[in-house]
Amino acid sequence: MATLVTGGAGFIGSHIVVALHDAGRDVVVLDDFSNASRRVVDALRTLTGSHLPVVEGDAGDPDVLDAVFGGNRIDSVVHFAARKSVAESVSDPLGYYRSNLGSVIALAAAAIDRGVGRLVFSSSATVYGSTSALPVAEDSPTVPDSPYGQTKLMGERILADAAASSDMRAVMLRYFNPVGAHPSGVIGEDPSGEPANLVPRIMQVVAGRRDRLGVFGADYSTVDGTAVRDYVHVMDLAEGHVAALDTDIAPSSSRTYNLGTGSGTTVLQVLAAAEEALGTRIPYKVAERRPGDIEASWADCTRARDELGWQARRGLTQMLADHWNFVRQHLNGYES
Ligand SMILES: NC(=O)c1ccc[n+]([C@@H]2O[C@H](COP(=O)([O-])OP(=O)(O)OC[C@H]3O[C@@H](n4cnc5c(N)ncnc54)[C@H](O)[C@@H]3O)[C@@H](O)[C@H]2O)c1
Repeated sequence: MATLVTGGAGFIGSHIVVALHDAGRDVVVLDDFSNASRRVVDALRTLTGSHLPVVEGDAGDPDVLDAVFGGNRIDSVVHFAARKSVAESVSDPLGYYRSNLGSVIALAAAAIDRGVGRLVFSSSATVYGSTSALPVAEDSPTVPDSPYGQTKLMGERILADAAASSDMRAVMLRYFNPVGAHPSGVIGEDPSGEPANLVPRIMQVVAGRRDRLGVFGADYSTVDGTAVRDYVHVMDLAEGHVAALDTDIAPSSSRTYNLGTGSGTTVLQVLAAAEEALGTRIPYKVAERRPGDIEASWADCTRARDELGWQARRGLTQMLADHWNFVRQHLNGYES
């Protein structure tokens, strides 16, 4: 039996493919390569030393799903495939609802039809929005600030209802801020276009592709005025997914878990850690706050620790060193 990984050629999905392989599971990847290089497939086959079955297609297309489930013995699904830009979701909300929720509905229907026992869903800390007390726990209020965040919250709701009406189990994982890369540097984050996230932007400065880092807002009510996030190593996330596939929950039920480190770091603290980890000076300039950015967010990860037996193990220095190790080997992304 195999685990179907939708979006398995993407940043987070590719690391989970390797972790599942290392845990002794067979994996089938479904990806439309709308935000991934086909070279990721070669990288994954090299890393796993296996002929990884990869289907190219849309996770929201029932015919594609029919072929994937019909052609493979699949007993679990991890669903990463989604569009993920907050800004783009504001300008194209209908496209985001159609794509992100269409794939959730089609995939849940196909999985239930084929008797799949478990579906793990990539959700996000963005479902909490900006009004929660910190740290945010799974039962904190959910008030997403963008159509993208809404698609994650609605996706959770749809899957919880689908699980309740069938024998399937649904596990929602709310990631905080994933960074880092596989220690080999063979796979990592290769953003297309202008990256919105802090660490890829820092890496562009270190790689000489950007003169300086723009620090968006230094007037927040935080220790140094810059925004606080909970950065978590993508390899820790990968281990969280293996735990979510193994954890003992009843059929017809669903459960939600935060995956973060449980501590927050400011932009300037990340910058200082990057200078230290990479041994270089990283020039920066304070700019206006970006619309939609929240002041601070970090996770309460008690539930994941108690129920999944999972805790993030890797610190910020390792996240930054591993992230750079991938970037330095792929200065023009996967195409180099
Ligand atoms: N990266 C983050 O900061 C972050 C944080 C929280 C949650 N998430 C969620 O985690 C998941 C993975 O994120 P990522 O950073 O690896 O993104 P990514 O864009 O690197 O990976 C997504 C993958 O899915 C594929 N894809 C997109 N739509 C598809 C579709 N309809 N059918 C088939 N394949 C499709 C893309 O080609 C890509 O390979 C997403 O659901 C995202 O919303 C990401």
